[in-house]
Amino acid sequence: MISKTIVEALNSQIKLEANASMQYLSMASWAEINGFNGVANFFFGQSEEERMHMIKLVKFINERGEKAVIPALDKSKSEFDSLQDIFTTFLESEETVTNNVNKIVFQCLEAKDYTVHNFMQWYVSEQAEEEALARTILDKFKIIGSDKGGLYLFDRDIENIAVNKE
Ligand SMILES: [Fe+2]
Ligand SMILES: [Fe+2]
Repeated sequence: MISKTIVEALNSQIKLEANASMQYLSMASWAEINGFNGVANFFFGQSEEERMHMIKLVKFINERGEKAVIPALDKSKSEFDSLQDIFTTFLESEETVTNNVNKIVFQCLEAKDYTVHNFMQWYVSEQAEEEALARTILDKFKIIGSDKGGLYLFDRDIENIAVNKE
């Protein structure tokens, strides 16, 4: 039995993961159109991961006899100035998700719901990894700037940057 507050909190997380999935799909599409196939692949993969994060929550809620709410989504950002803009959006999106994860963890402690608290630890770890990845990539742009050769190499090598992820 999960309290109503915690069920609502978990459902809010479903929406954030779903929004992130669509946002990354939009970024993948922009990258593909603009000839950055490495970045496109990266975000197609990220989009898929966020979808899995969402489904993990849906199943968790339903398996505990509560009801997952499949939400209407916000409109994704689809215009970007540059690859740097894309990865800045990536970091901001991950920070938004992290904030909500932290909020839920706090609510679990308040409600003394250690089962959901334990479940949420997976998301805590995941968010730490995702933010570290986004920051590592953004650091590269401090070196590359808008140098075309640098962007070309970045697009070619991004798969190797992402390799350290689980
Ligand atoms: Fe996620
Ligand atoms: Fe993420």
